[in-house]
Amino acid sequence: MIWAGKKEQTKPSLPGVALEGFRVVVRPCRDTDYSDWQRVRSRNMDRLKTFEPTWMTDALTQDFFMRRLHRHARDWVEDRAYCFLIFDKLENRLIGGINLNHICRGAAQNAALGYWIDETYEGQGYMAEAGRLVIEYAFDTLKLHRINAACLPDNERSKNLLTRLGFEEEGFAKNYFKINGEWRDHILFGLVKS
Ligand SMILES: CC(C)(COP(=O)(O)OP(=O)(O)OC[C@H]1O[C@@H](n2cnc3c(N)ncnc32)[C@H](O)[C@@H]1OP(=O)(O)O)[C@@H](O)C(=O)NCCC(=O)NCCS
Repeated sequence: MIWAGKKEQTKPSLPGVALEGFRVVVRPCRDTDYSDWQRVRSRNMDRLKTFEPTWMTDALTQDFFMRRLHRHARDWVEDRAYCFLIFDKLENRLIGGINLNHICRGAAQNAALGYWIDETYEGQGYMAEAGRLVIEYAFDTLKLHRINAACLPDNERSKNLLTRLGFEEEGFAKNYFKINGEWRDHILFGLVKS
């Protein structure tokens, strides 16, 4: 391997899961996705930074991407998180990402949903379709009981998406996540398997 990862020299292996909708395909990331991922993340960098934890200085490098890929593979095997990329089915173009993070088993059986979409695909229902596929996977395949989500109070698009997906607003959490270097209040949402 050419990338500069120190410990993990082998190719990460993620399962061949692919969730197919009408307009999107949602699947785990592959090493061959790097150039598309780099292009779309870099094009959306300024916009996404305002909604995400602080980007590392190497956040767009292949080394970072491969470390992330290895972590996703480990998380998947260990049932800790399930991370996916979203593709426009017609064009086979990478358009976003959606993750089930912080899997909590035992009496909780829940996960936290995170997502982003390329600006050119925003406001057209692509994320809602990807969200429905991942929710179905979470409840039917992973047998989770609840999905949590949190968004900044002024993130209207995210709030609308969650409502569209059937989430209910459940509360408010002060200084909940450090976003772009600042502790920020969040609105909490939940979706329970019914
Ligand atoms: C949050 C985010 C993923 C929402 O994406 P989105 O594209 O607005 O979400 P949807 O897929 O639900 O699209 C909804 C819009 O598509 C429209 N739409 C068009 N065709 C549609 C269709 N066939 N089906 C459903 N909606 C459709 C809806 O009317 C709605 O339009 P509106 O925004 O003008 O009301 C996106 O804004 C984003 O990436 N933001 C930056 C990152 C971020 O905030 N992440 C979440 C942190 S909590």
